[in-house]
Amino acid sequence: MLGSSFSPLRMKALEPAIASIARDLIDDMRRVGPPGDIRESLAEPLAASAISLILGIPREDHDKVLDWSEGCLDIRNIDRATESDMQLTEYMERLLDQKLRNPSEDLLSDMSIYIRDNPHESRREIIGLAAGLRFASQLNTPAAIDRAVYLFLTHPEYLDELHSGSAALKRAVEEVLRHPHPVSPRVAGIPRYAHEDIGVDAHTIQRGDLVIFDLDEANRDSSVFDSPLEFHPDRRANQHLAFGYGGHYCVAASLARLELKVVLETIFEMLPNLRLATDIDNLSRNSERLSGGLTKLPVSWDQG
Ligand code: HEM
Repeated sequence: MLGSSFSPLRMKALEPAIASIARDLIDDMRRVGPPGDIRESLAEPLAASAISLILGIPREDHDKVLDWSEGCLDIRNIDRATESDMQLTEYMERLLDQKLRNPSEDLLSDMSIYIRDNPHESRREIIGLAAGLRFASQLNTPAAIDRAVYLFLTHPEYLDELHSGSAALKRAVEEVLRHPHPVSPRVAGIPRYAHEDIGVDAHTIQRGDLVIFDLDEANRDSSVFDSPLEFHPDRRANQHLAFGYGGHYCVAASLARLELKVVLETIFEMLPNLRLATDIDNLSRNSERLSGGLTKLPVSWDQG
């Protein structure tokens, strides 16, 4: 069900709407004038608006849903995370019921019809998935957007790559995804339990063992990537694992790619001479989030 909702074809149809959200946000930054904060003014609201649009969350509910989604991801405050998860889940349950009575062209309407037509499937699981999709989009994408802007600000020699055709832009997006955040890498890996004994070099992972895969480490593997620690947006062979691998491969990878593409396409053009507005040493990691990323990415630009 979700595969088709996030298919590259669906994302292509959504591109004008997502690009328009990004341009409006950057216009707001211009209106207020420099300095600005990429994290607060672009990365977070773009990720929030894009998924709200896809799910079909009514405009008037965006702020409270954002608040609960932030709460769900707060790894320093378990009470806030639990309470927010409960509220977001209850909200999704009510909204799914409303969508069933009055469906429109959005993912929650599709999900409500799926629940109705598949009574053997777990209703609770699908409601949880609706809530999960909403807060998952607040996790990795803002961190990837601040990473994208940071990497190009610190490698201005590559800015021309962004305007040398769609293949070049696509390569740049993949390299941003592969490259671990230089200031604030993610702190979490992907957990799995071994179903059987597995030999890895001289070691044996025993059946039942918990294994945590460090995707950043895999993306820095020098046996796979040339100069893996360097940022090369023109990199061609780039089979990174940023979205995982296999059965749990990120369901919304095409949405994340679209958001990154739109940001890289617009921001350096709309904010001329964009630059960091602080020393790199002053940037601080977002320790509330497993995904890493920055608390703020202060920037300045020439106001035309
Ligand atoms: C740059 C942004 C993103 C990155 C780097 C990312 C990364 C990942 C990774 C590594 C996994 C695999 C987890 C595993 O194997 O256990 C995953 C799964 C998932 N992601 Fe993403 N993600 C991103 C954006 C998103 C967004 C925007 C959404 C929601 C709209 C989302 C929803 C999900 C879901 C629901 C799964 C679970 C899929 C399953 O278990 O079948 N992700 N993501």
